[in-house]
Amino acid sequence: MKKIGVLTSGGDAPGMNAAIYGLVEEAETQGVEVVGFIDGYEGLIDGKAKALTPANVKPHIGIGGTFLGTARSERFKDSAVQQQVAERINEELDGLVVIGGDGSYQGALKLSELGVHTIAIPATIDNDISRTELTLGFKTAVRNVVETVDIMMQSAASHHHIYGIEVMGRRAGDLAEWTGKALAADGIISKTEDFSVSQVREAIEMSFAAGKSYQLFIIAEGAMSAAEFKRHIENETVYGIHDFVLGHIQRGGNPVAEDRMLGFDFGKEAFNRLSAGDTGLCLAVEAGEVVAQSIEDHRAFEDRRHLS
Ligand code: F6P
Repeated sequence: MKKIGVLTSGGDAPGMNAAIYGLVEEAETQGVEVVGFIDGYEGLIDGKAKALTPANVKPHIGIGGTFLGTARSERFKDSAVQQQVAERINEELDGLVVIGGDGSYQGALKLSELGVHTIAIPATIDNDISRTELTLGFKTAVRNVVETVDIMMQSAASHHHIYGIEVMGRRAGDLAEWTGKALAADGIISKTEDFSVSQVREAIEMSFAAGKSYQLFIIAEGAMSAAEFKRHIENETVYGIHDFVLGHIQRGGNPVAEDRMLGFDFGKEAFNRLSAGDTGLCLAVEAGEVVAQSIEDHRAFEDRRHLS
């Protein structure tokens, strides 16, 4: 193996830069060159890339986002484009590492079917990739939500306000569940079925009765919006709600140590898998260890999950 590529795709996730570093550092020990494509699959299509070395990647390991840039590429969904790109990559490179979420995996699977040796690394703040205990960026997003809401609740406590705070996660409720627990929320709505006006009313009344100075409800964006929550509670109870959407503050920020370390491990393992001649694999955490699974099996599992 002489030269490989890497790209970050989909929503940025803190720890992506650390994964690139793990890959580049391991590649250097084996004398393999690494190029990083700019803005995900967009850069792959246009051949926009830069040479990566441990020295030029290291300054980014403690910074959120992805220094390579990312995109949700519509162009790469076209099979003619995929074919052209695969032909070029097969001529120029010995393998490719794709760092991103579920959508990015589809592109990685396609490329591996077209003969490009491809390994995917799970990175998304949503923690919504099946069959891995963790995705890169999730722990940092949990930190961001908890620290931000802690600040907001100091003001809420002074005014005895009731808050409904919407967190990200797409269809998954992990971010809502973890942060709701850490914040001792009065209610966590991580799935639409979790919501009941009478339960929220009861929780508010119990919290008031216990002398708590504020009430907090954490809502997963996939379950309902904070605005809907407010509308239901205000229409059907006597309570007023402060609704708030945390937004992209959840996705930025310097990665926590755990995301950096996981990033290094994922990057290193991705290199070792390519070097062993593997392809069509996605990395995952199982029982705390980094393992590799087939992207095709992952796809089939996801399809069954969404059908049921
Ligand atoms: O997948 C990451 C994520 O932050 C989701 O939690 C959220 O629904 C989505 O991306 C937001 O995407 P965008 O930044 O493109 O609005």
